[in-house]
Amino acid sequence: MTAAILADATPQTTATAQRFDIYQPIHKGLRDFMGDTLSRVGRVDVTDAEDLADALSQVEALLDFCAKHVQHENEFIHTAIRARQPGAASRTADDHVEHLQSIDTLHKETRAVYDADNEQRHALALRLYRHLALFVAENLQHMHIEETANNAALWAHYTDEELAAIHDRLLASIAPAEMMLGLRWMVPALTPQQRAGMFGEMKAGAPAEVFNAVVDTVRPHLAARDWSKLASALA
Ligand SMILES: [Fe+2]
Repeated sequence: MTAAILADATPQTTATAQRFDIYQPIHKGLRDFMGDTLSRVGRVDVTDAEDLADALSQVEALLDFCAKHVQHENEFIHTAIRARQPGAASRTADDHVEHLQSIDTLHKETRAVYDADNEQRHALALRLYRHLALFVAENLQHMHIEETANNAALWAHYTDEELAAIHDRLLASIAPAEMMLGLRWMVPALTPQQRAGMFGEMKAGAPAEVFNAVVDTVRPHLAARDWSKLASALA
């Protein structure tokens, strides 16, 4: 599949690049969250209880976040695609069923590492690492389909104003803790321009204490250069 996709050298046109992209920002964050968590499990010291607990709790947080992400896409995005182009979201809807099964398996494998005795723990942590890698690989392919085929369906049948309204409804359904975790991974994964746009809107529309809490959450994860660009954009 990847070779066929790479063989299509057609650049994304300016027209589609400028459309409202409901997937791109959160998917950038998810790619980062997934890659970081996979690396974290790969280097975990299973003989160090604190290091092990930190790594496994990051896995649990990622899996819970992914399950909620699937629910949000099913409820808001797939529903919107089906309403105007029945069948267009069937590939990624089927993927979501598999993703939820994989998430359940990975939860069990994470728990098995916690529960194992010292002799078994190395092997079970390696199993979790390899299976998490396959889950990440599947999600990377899946997100590409969403950002190309699903976006093409959305752009063909919805205006940007309608897509922004769907996105607003999706965001309004997200609990504060999940929102903060999403921002912690998404904001550092964006370009400085995307970051400045998002924070400019947030500063104008959200209560000051909420905006300040978001800044406090993401700032430790931004490189000094990126923070300075964001601070200048907001000044
Ligand atoms: Fe998805």
